[in-house]
Amino acid sequence: QTDAFTYDPGFTSTASCQSTLTYIDGDQGVLLHRGYPIGELAEQSSFMEVSYLLLNGELPSKQELENFSTTITRHTMVHEQLATFFRGFRRDAHPMAILCGVVGALSAFYHDSTDIHDPAQRVIASHRLIAKMPTIAAMAYKYSVGQPFLYPDNSLSYTGNFLRMTFGVPAEPYIVNPVIEKALDRIFILHADHEQNASTSTVRLAGSSGANPFACIAAGIACLWGPAHGGANEAALNMLREIGTPDRIPEYIARAKDKNDPFRLMGFGHRVYKNYDPRATVMQKTVREVFAELKVTDPLFDVALQLEEIALNDPYFVEKKLFPNVDFYSGVILSAIGFPTSMFTVLFALARTVGWVAQWNEMITDPDQKIGRPRQLYTGPTQRSYVPVTER
Ligand code: SDX
Repeated sequence: QTDAFTYDPGFTSTASCQSTLTYIDGDQGVLLHRGYPIGELAEQSSFMEVSYLLLNGELPSKQELENFSTTITRHTMVHEQLATFFRGFRRDAHPMAILCGVVGALSAFYHDSTDIHDPAQRVIASHRLIAKMPTIAAMAYKYSVGQPFLYPDNSLSYTGNFLRMTFGVPAEPYIVNPVIEKALDRIFILHADHEQNASTSTVRLAGSSGANPFACIAAGIACLWGPAHGGANEAALNMLREIGTPDRIPEYIARAKDKNDPFRLMGFGHRVYKNYDPRATVMQKTVREVFAELKVTDPLFDVALQLEEIALNDPYFVEKKLFPNVDFYSGVILSAIGFPTSMFTVLFALARTVGWVAQWNEMITDPDQKIGRPRQLYTGPTQRSYVPVTER
């Protein structure tokens, strides 16, 4: 609780935990990380600096940021045996399936950072997860396209390293485009943490049992994959592709309103934001910057803009408080940069790892922490006696 806000007592009964990391006001469209507005962080900070802020609670000095970035950089390589792990997957395996499997296996490679009661091991595990996620994500992409893995180049930035490992090839030098690097770094900032969303709650619940941090993050990745959550960016772009041209938008708006049609506008709506998602605002601005830099004109962006315009002025969506969320525009940008839709949620997981890790550390160091045990409202049969099969 800070003097800037009056803690809403109404949440005390339903809140799953207390946290100092991220504050969301769904009605005002406010998102703060350790008190700093997401718009200011997205415009002025870097993903490494926001990672330090989420983990440590304060913005770093220049030297602290350099030391943190160097520490993370030193953990970017993965155990060489891990590369063989990939070869067990089919080439057409979804990269999220690979990410779930490989991250879950990390505890089998890093036994010296699985003791959750050892502060030093918690720090190393946290740094390893943040550092290795880009390497593993890039390896998942390379494996899917049949290209060789590239080792990290630690002379590059965190995001530049990831771009090179993903799009570089051994046969020629890879030059990081600074505009693309900045745009992707900003997308990572927008996805870093988001209070107690489904995947973060999954990480906390898994961690409350004492499971090692690698297993907890793997659980978060599995939950994020769902199309109602992190899988929405992939689903939103597939929806825009299916709509194809602006003249078909009314057909899909009608479907979204039809109670008998399970179709939902992917990238619209939010459990908490009932006004607008401040991240979507930054995302839409970033689309224009990337498109200008790459000199691309993607008709899907026109469909996205017109879909947003129509939906925002439709009484149904206004009444239901439905508007674009963080996933609506991210796919258009990632597609323009060159990522296939199957990699969109992988990038979400890459960025959200720092939030999951920070939330896990906050949970595991809470002296009052107990194993999570949600209860239920039982609506099944009352007690009854067993009936032998001969009498049924
Ligand atoms: C993320 O929690 C987080 O913080 C998540 C996240 C993060 O950073 O971690 O922000 C990331 O997951 C963003 C959300 C990405 N998901 C999508 O874009 C998928 C499409 N959106 C919907 O599935 C839905 O909006 C949810 C799940 C995101 C939120 O649903 P709610 O708030 O629980 O609302 P609801 O499902 O109860 O729906 C309320 C009404 C319903 O109509 P009624 O039954 O009241 O008549 O709104 C309708 C719904 O039918 N509705 C939609 C809709 N979303 C809700 N109708 C059409 N299209 C939609 N997208």
